[in-house]
Amino acid sequence: MKAISPGIQRPHLGEPFLLTPGPLTTSYQVKAQMLRDWGSWDDDFRAMTQEMRDRLLALIGDGAEAFDCVPMQGSGSFSVEAMLGTFIPTSGKALVLSNGAYGQRSAQTLQYLNRDYTVLDKGDYLPPRGEMVAQMLAQDPAITHVVAIHCETSSGILNPIEEISQATYAAGRTLLIDSMSAFGALPLDANQIRYEALVSSANKCIEGVPGFGFVIARKSALEAAKGNSHSLCLDLHAQWAHMNKTGQWRYTPPTHVVAAFLEALRAHEAEGGVAARGARYRQNRDVIVEGMRSLGFETLLKDRWLSPIIVTFFCPADPKFKFEQFYALMKKKGFIIYPGKLTELDSFRIGCIGQMDAHTMRQVVSSAQ
Ligand SMILES: Cc1ncc(COP(=O)(O)O)c(C=O)c1O
Repeated sequence: MKAISPGIQRPHLGEPFLLTPGPLTTSYQVKAQMLRDWGSWDDDFRAMTQEMRDRLLALIGDGAEAFDCVPMQGSGSFSVEAMLGTFIPTSGKALVLSNGAYGQRSAQTLQYLNRDYTVLDKGDYLPPRGEMVAQMLAQDPAITHVVAIHCETSSGILNPIEEISQATYAAGRTLLIDSMSAFGALPLDANQIRYEALVSSANKCIEGVPGFGFVIARKSALEAAKGNSHSLCLDLHAQWAHMNKTGQWRYTPPTHVVAAFLEALRAHEAEGGVAARGARYRQNRDVIVEGMRSLGFETLLKDRWLSPIIVTFFCPADPKFKFEQFYALMKKKGFIIYPGKLTELDSFRIGCIGQMDAHTMRQVVSSAQ
């Protein structure tokens, strides 16, 4: 196995790099943890679940004592639904800050859950700013919760979460953050940014494999949420209470995925934690943006809003350019790219997260020539 830079290796079985924002390219060591079976009731697995929860909590820094971590089976959307349904009571009302597919999905989830909500819709690529949030909260006293997307992965925009948090709490409301594609690479220190709960999943910036999500929430909010949930399975209060009492997940846990995720968390720490992970991804982004621009590709977003998670490029206007052909060519060269998710314009996306570094990204650019 050839190392392409210290710590980063090519995919072991020769499969292409996934330039997609999760599932993403994971290390061989992470995948290797799935070769062993674990009994879900056994003390060893209970200890693994506890270590995982402790390690995740440690990622939000000094204010973590006031929070707890609740993992939930399923993909990330299951955990978003669990968070919304558990913390927003039937008497509550949410303001969803939407600028892409995942903001829209939160709104759609609330509709399914029969929770009252309103949407600040910024289209495909504009950020919801603090003053707009303040204005909407002042106009509608019924709003109890603000739902924000940290990195809107459909465009790659990094939303201004600090000013959104300030506006929310200045108006006496509470903030729920979908940090699915950002947590672990972008800081959400509890002492720096105020929030009630955040949600992310195993197969994003911690670089695990898919199978569960997790919510990090204030203990006071978890305590107050008893009886709110619309769903037996997605009740975070019930999962939390059961896990704290027994050390077990309520229903069959994704044992192998948890084992892999623990290895991914250890690697995250060894790399230098959130700061170092974020720095590697920023470098990946800078190499890909500079390189693709030098080839004539344009980014959807101005530099100020480019996240280190994923970058959207416009498809060239040249009628000879066909995304399907470009995709197939890139795959042949060892890279799986991602179609765009904009409503109006043809685009494609290149992810910066996963087991990849600047060297990998330079190879991506030379493959796109
Ligand atoms: C910001 C955000 N929210 C929610 C989701 C949904 O997660 P999943 O596809 O795992 O259900 C994603 C997936 O990429 C995401 O990026």
